[in-house]
Amino acid sequence: MTPNPYASRSPMIMASILSANFTRLGAEITQVLDAGADGLHLDVLDGHFAPNISFGPVVVEAARASTTGYLDAHLMISDPLRYAPPIVKAGANGITFHVEVVSDPAATAREIRKLGCHVGITLRPSTPLETLWPALDLVDLVLVMSVEPGFSGQKFMPESLPRVQAVKKRLRDDQRIEIDGGIKPQNIRQALDAGVDWFVIASAIFDQPDRKAAIQNIRDHLAGRA
Ligand code: DX5
Ligand code: ZN
Repeated sequence: MTPNPYASRSPMIMASILSANFTRLGAEITQVLDAGADGLHLDVLDGHFAPNISFGPVVVEAARASTTGYLDAHLMISDPLRYAPPIVKAGANGITFHVEVVSDPAATAREIRKLGCHVGITLRPSTPLETLWPALDLVDLVLVMSVEPGFSGQKFMPESLPRVQAVKKRLRDDQRIEIDGGIKPQNIRQALDAGVDWFVIASAIFDQPDRKAAIQNIRDHLAGRA
């Protein structure tokens, strides 16, 4: 059974496979989940919305075949309603779409909900938060981007923290805030204190030789033990 990260209020670490070694993706996935990640973050990029192309349903299906873990899909694509159905069919548990690419975010959230998955909404660092409000009641998750969409390994934008605080004030207790981009052991506590529930982390896990030690170090920082 897929663990449900909404079942607990504990901070969740979502390992983004964008920095994984794709020549052995199955083993990479098993390793980071065994090492203590709470789920996998899957960055789907179409080369239109952001300047990178990553993967689509075929790789989501491969991830699903490698684990029963939670699959959190982040669609950085210009047509989320077209590709959400095959991505859910491939095994994603949650779909997060960008507010910039849809004319009616509330309608998009309702359509994605019909697929039987969790629904998230997200935005670029420069997009006004107000664009989220019409859909806020209809989503499970708000993803605040702390880098420009496209690549792992970028520098964290501290301007994202007041944005987290502003979103947090408007959320119900059953909704979650996720942050994505440049999260490291050194800044994760600040993000937690601003109100973040879920932490997307690619390079600070996958670029480390010992993933177990990397995740433990992140948890120690989250818990204020380091
Ligand atoms: C960026 C992606 C992120 C990325 C994070 O477009 O949405 O999920 O993989 O990578 P790090 O943790 O290395 O900043
Ligand atoms: Zn992402």
